[in-house]
Amino acid sequence: MSSTLWHGRFAGGPSEALQALNDSLPFDRRMFREDIAGSRAHVRMLCDVGLLTDIERDTVVAALDTVEQEIESETFEFAINDEDIHTAVERRVTELEPAGAKMHTGRSRNDQVATDVRLWTRGAIDEVVELIVRIQRTLLASAEAAGDAYLPGYTHLQHAQPVALSHHLLAHGWALARDVDRLTDARRRVDVSALGAGALAGSSLPLDPEKTAEYLGFAGVFENSLDGVSDRDFGAETLFALALLGVHLSRIGEELILWASSEFAFVELDDGFSTGSSMMPQKKNPDIAELARGKAGRLVGHLTGFLTTLKGLPLTYNKDMQEDKEPLFDAVDTVRLTLLALDGMISTIRFRTDRMAEVASSPYAAATDLAEWLVASGMPFRQAHAVVGEIVRKALAGGGSLSDLVAADDQLGPEAAALLEPGISVTRRTTRGGGSPAAVVDQLIRFRARLDG
Ligand code: ARG
Repeated sequence: MSSTLWHGRFAGGPSEALQALNDSLPFDRRMFREDIAGSRAHVRMLCDVGLLTDIERDTVVAALDTVEQEIESETFEFAINDEDIHTAVERRVTELEPAGAKMHTGRSRNDQVATDVRLWTRGAIDEVVELIVRIQRTLLASAEAAGDAYLPGYTHLQHAQPVALSHHLLAHGWALARDVDRLTDARRRVDVSALGAGALAGSSLPLDPEKTAEYLGFAGVFENSLDGVSDRDFGAETLFALALLGVHLSRIGEELILWASSEFAFVELDDGFSTGSSMMPQKKNPDIAELARGKAGRLVGHLTGFLTTLKGLPLTYNKDMQEDKEPLFDAVDTVRLTLLALDGMISTIRFRTDRMAEVASSPYAAATDLAEWLVASGMPFRQAHAVVGEIVRKALAGGGSLSDLVAADDQLGPEAAALLEPGISVTRRTTRGGGSPAAVVDQLIRFRARLDG
């Protein structure tokens, strides 16, 4: 009896074309640990409810251990009819131990695969969160090391107001903190066992789904067997959180690309985290940052592909759902590689703070400070904006330096002109969450508390 799991009902074997399309083993074998853990829990539960003897339980669990070692050490021999990892494990367990034929009692691959993917995703989220925290710590360390350094803050990629470098770095850190929140929140809905839902409708056998869930360390159990086998929301949510994380990393990437250009020259990349050109000897390229930018497309694609697969699927399990694994696996692999490389890139980067200060010191960057100075002495903001705007226009039209014009102005004068000195403007925005080095001191404390908390 070599053959498929349904050989009893079928006179002939599967065609090659069917197998090539249908088999998920090439990609789902990476869930072998989760599949074996699920089977161990199921077998223990079957024994608890009297469907297996203690001896049968122990021998099947021992066979599962052997299979795990075989797959780990790559001595496991997959067979042509091993359609997926579930089939392969069960086939081998039964070869090793006849009681293995009882392992699938009260279970379907439908509740089995849903449980495996949930277990896998739960572990993957934990791993990704750790890597996000790592890059957040790097941003924190860079922010702390940045001291009073400042650079132009931008809107529309035009100089807006100077901000502390630490402020800028932490902005990315906070976005990543929300990614951690989102993944942690999605994890709550991932952390639910589907085992015991059977093919779709539960079982006539006295199964105990709560026990299985407990053995697997799940926080919850499905409430409805139909939903239990067909719910893939958890995958969609996880993919959304990963896609948005990818979008955040792409923004960091884009800034590093700009900053590394000769035009900005705000950073110098470490040799270990940049590439050269095969033709142009002078080149040093920010490939990691470009890939961080580029990979976001792939992550967004996985999310939209996944949602499209789910759309319109009638209850309950449909083979379309086999398409849930590759996007999840690839999304996790992609963010893992990107986070690690970007972390290395940022932790070795040299910030050219002299250059940043030089670029940020244009007196025009302090125009808002002049208007706010007038407001502090009682002028309505709209009027102050117009007064300063007129002086800026005059200076730009060649009517004198901004600083001379401000000093000579009745309403402004020398005290206001002093605000235009390099490095003064940045110190003035001391409100909570603001861009001055002094305001960032509080922010650093809150950010560190979040990471440590
Ligand atoms: N390989 C399948 C998957 O990944 C396992 C579930 C198969 N279920 C079935 N009814 N054919 O979805």
